[in-house]
Amino acid sequence: MELIIRPDREAAAQLVARIVAGELRINPRLVLGMATGSTMEAVYRILVRLHLKEDLDFSQCRTFNLDEYVGLAASHGNSYHQFMYEHLFRHVNIDLRNTHLPSGLAPDLDAECQRYEAMIQDAGGIDLQLLGIGTAGHIGFNEPLSALRSRTRVKALAPTTIKQNAPLFDDPSKMPRRAITMGVGTILEARRCLLLATGAAKADIIAQAVEGPITSMVTASALQLHPRCTVIVDEQAAGKLKEKEYYRWIFENEPEWEAYQ
Ligand code: GLP
Repeated sequence: MELIIRPDREAAAQLVARIVAGELRINPRLVLGMATGSTMEAVYRILVRLHLKEDLDFSQCRTFNLDEYVGLAASHGNSYHQFMYEHLFRHVNIDLRNTHLPSGLAPDLDAECQRYEAMIQDAGGIDLQLLGIGTAGHIGFNEPLSALRSRTRVKALAPTTIKQNAPLFDDPSKMPRRAITMGVGTILEARRCLLLATGAAKADIIAQAVEGPITSMVTASALQLHPRCTVIVDEQAAGKLKEKEYYRWIFENEPEWEAYQ
């Protein structure tokens, strides 16, 4: 795992967007794993700008989102389908047929989960997976105690997650209590993972995920097992890390990051 500290939210999102853009330029048929949440909005805003100003081409790119609420239609204002459409898809030249999210309205949810896994396999697996982190330490909706080898499935949402996301709903009591999410095992199979966390509210959980033990209580900690995972944080989200100076030294001295200094 690598940890990169950027001065503020914007700089952290910039770095994530530049890495995505760089990979997309090398491989226009990139299979991108997408994440939702307010942290990602800045990344998508920058990617839209790169599309408009620097011709970043999404026409052949394929995407798979991490998760979707059970019971919400794709057209629902709080669905992750809508989130992706509003923040990214409608602004760039992506072919919507190449964008995938699990259906929260599938009559047979287990079959939907299996179908989703099969689609990822058929696409050749995920090249680059974007991740946020919930205050419960989740990646996707892999709530505490999720098996670290889990696959796409339905999960009950933890009270902390409901508390974090319910205010986004017009009627917070209508927030779904379950979601379909890629499993931790599914995420760990992506060839590269990029986790972005910003703001002081994420400082505790980032310290646990990066410097704490690998535990199903904090599913983001499973990323310590991933051969190519970069965690990008702003100063605020880095607030509780013990080894900040070491991470800065690595970023300044690792040749891979020279172009991004
Ligand atoms: C939701 C998503 C997660 C995301 C999290 C972070 O719970 N399922 O994938 O990481 O939100 O949200 P925010 O960026 O708004 O803090």
